[in-house]
Amino acid sequence: MTSTFMRMAPGVQDLGNDPLPVKPYLCPEFFAGERENIFGKVWLNVARGCEIPNPGDFIVRPVEIRNASVIVVRGEDGVIRAFHNVCSHRSAKVEWRACGNAKLFSCPYHAWSYDTQGKLRGVPSEGNFPGLDKSIYGLTPIHCDTWNDLVFINFDEAPDQTLREYLGALVDYGDAYPMSDFDAWISVDVGVVNCNWKIFLDAFQEIYHLNSLHRQTLTDTFKWADNPQGEPAYFSTFGPHRTISMGYNPAQRSGPMATLAQRFASDITSTGGSALANARSSLDNRQTGINPGRIDNWAIDVTTIFPNVVWLVGSNSAVFHKIWPIDREHTRYENFSFYRKPTTASERFSREVSFGLFRDTIVEDILNTEFSQQALLAGAKKNFLLQTTEVSVRHHHHHVGRYVRGEVTHG
Ligand code: FES
Ligand SMILES: [Fe+2]
Repeated sequence: MTSTFMRMAPGVQDLGNDPLPVKPYLCPEFFAGERENIFGKVWLNVARGCEIPNPGDFIVRPVEIRNASVIVVRGEDGVIRAFHNVCSHRSAKVEWRACGNAKLFSCPYHAWSYDTQGKLRGVPSEGNFPGLDKSIYGLTPIHCDTWNDLVFINFDEAPDQTLREYLGALVDYGDAYPMSDFDAWISVDVGVVNCNWKIFLDAFQEIYHLNSLHRQTLTDTFKWADNPQGEPAYFSTFGPHRTISMGYNPAQRSGPMATLAQRFASDITSTGGSALANARSSLDNRQTGINPGRIDNWAIDVTTIFPNVVWLVGSNSAVFHKIWPIDREHTRYENFSFYRKPTTASERFSREVSFGLFRDTIVEDILNTEFSQQALLAGAKKNFLLQTTEVSVRHHHHHVGRYVRGEVTHG
């Protein structure tokens, strides 16, 4: 693998240059393998702890590929737990709100109720259930653990790795990242995109398309004199997880709205503003593993937490693309953008400008993917071709394939 600009971290596996077969995007058996061997086995990031800061705070998230609705709740004891959102009586959906605060979850069907630790507390006409042992009929727990305020679940009855084992070297990479500084957020559940989840994820794995698809929105943000093609600066892997590090253009000229916003506070797509400089130096001082290639003009790491979360690791924001398979041809996309809480009106203005620019780039990404899905269904192509800096796409498919084929074993 060679590239005119991008450097590879030591030890990155050479995955060759062969065309990438499209069969895994189309094959029902392959999708069934993804459902069982990936989404049924590995740790999945479903939330941030800051979304449920107080005892009783909860969120409900669908995980369609597992046919699951999941309650993630902070108990009265402060511990975050996850449960199947399913009543022990006759399997009705217990909590219908997307988020809120509760002391008890009450099933709408016959009003059985559960506390925030999942224990069954109330059964109307309890005497008519002879011998009912309430202690064994709580909500069904799902394995749940937290790293750096990221909440993960695992659907396996007995996961063969702890969360930290699963994250592996990603823990050293991100342990000191000041995630908790970014506890204000904008979230968008974009809804269903009509394509296979991997087509959608691929769009967030490479930046080859920035010069073309995003020419109106990102213009010259990520290319500069030494890097005229705007290639990523550095590629590193952590088992199935990976990051591509991108530099910024010191001579970038922003549009009028972004320029105005940068006079007060920087935004996530800009390279200017004193806030960004301050944030970068405080990040450097923390000795994090972020920016593993120690790029001088580092802008952002695009870090994929296998299998379905792309974390844009910035010095003044943490943005998460969450890509949830529904079936072979449909995907649900959520975006969570976490920032520092604005303390002034001008910072708030800057954040809104930033999010507006960011949203436009996402819309550009989405439009492409549905047509690609149709083209695959039409049988137009048998392979994708990948250039050197699309190695992140290749790395993802390599690891998806290993899981689906049952080649990943632990313990
Ligand atoms: S199904 Fe929930 S109380 Fe009957
Ligand atoms: Fe894009």
